[in-house]
Amino acid sequence: MAQVQNIQWFPGHMTKTKRKIQASLKLVDIVAEIIDARIPVSSHNPDLDKLIQSKPRIVLMNKCDMADKAQTDRWVEYYRKKNIAAIPVDCKTGKGLNRFIPTVRDVLSDKIEKWEAKGMRNRSIHIMVVGIPNVGKSSFINKMAKKGSARVEDRPGVTRGNQWFSIGQGMELLDTPGVLWPKFDDPEVGEKLAFTGAVKDQVMDTELLAFRLLEVMCRFPTQQFIERFKLQNVDLESIEAYDLLELIARKRGMLMSGGRVDTERASVMILDEYRSAKLGKITLECV
Ligand code: G4P
Repeated sequence: MAQVQNIQWFPGHMTKTKRKIQASLKLVDIVAEIIDARIPVSSHNPDLDKLIQSKPRIVLMNKCDMADKAQTDRWVEYYRKKNIAAIPVDCKTGKGLNRFIPTVRDVLSDKIEKWEAKGMRNRSIHIMVVGIPNVGKSSFINKMAKKGSARVEDRPGVTRGNQWFSIGQGMELLDTPGVLWPKFDDPEVGEKLAFTGAVKDQVMDTELLAFRLLEVMCRFPTQQFIERFKLQNVDLESIEAYDLLELIARKRGMLMSGGRVDTERASVMILDEYRSAKLGKITLECV
């Protein structure tokens, strides 16, 4: 799915995607929305609620291995209050995914009861996965799909060519996830998506991005941040972010000819370390 990072969301493209998702919605009983646990607001598509309307939804807070656990728990509670089931997951290792099938059953319990009352005992449950690029949709499908379970449904005129993956217990995932656009028109959202690597670095100036990330880190410094960059004796509350960037570059020996510090290289390194959670498990949007 690496290519989806390059998607440009032109209005025509958005309309096409909307239509595709609306058509797929007719085939499914529930939508699994994947968000990034580090940025639950910015990784949520602004039009999703309108798009899926009354279709039941389950939220997967993915990449929870890189998010602050207490914050993730608070987000789960936030969703619970809104009557939406949310589960923290890590689709890289599969942690938390064992809760997916029972939670889907729980969310659909009324419907399942009705089907059973009508004698539809073995009716499959169809699920569509949606989320912004890079949030982990294919990782989720790969982890859930049983090997060799792909089944092409070929009812002419209705669902020709749709492929489903069995995930066990009578549940099937639509193989093509709905790739949603983020709230890219909001610069703050764009910045958070860039911090986490959801949008490509080329979209924003790398130094500016690292500089902004340092501002956030100085407000909420983690132990790892202080230790990795040896900032024990630095007054993080008052240092200017640009001075800090230079200091970190110097401490890491990132020098260019003439003794000037290579802030560009340091910026790439800081962003990489944030994205691989080396600076700690940091949630950028709190509830
Ligand atoms: P997409 O289909 O929604 O576009 O996302 P995809 O599954 O391709 O995942 C995007 C990147 O996020 C991948 O990393 C993937 O491994 C990583 N990822 C997905 N879920 C998790 C998670 O729960 N925790 C962590 N830490 N990472 C996750 P990549 O660098 O593009 O590839 P690679 O590292 O797998 O080689």
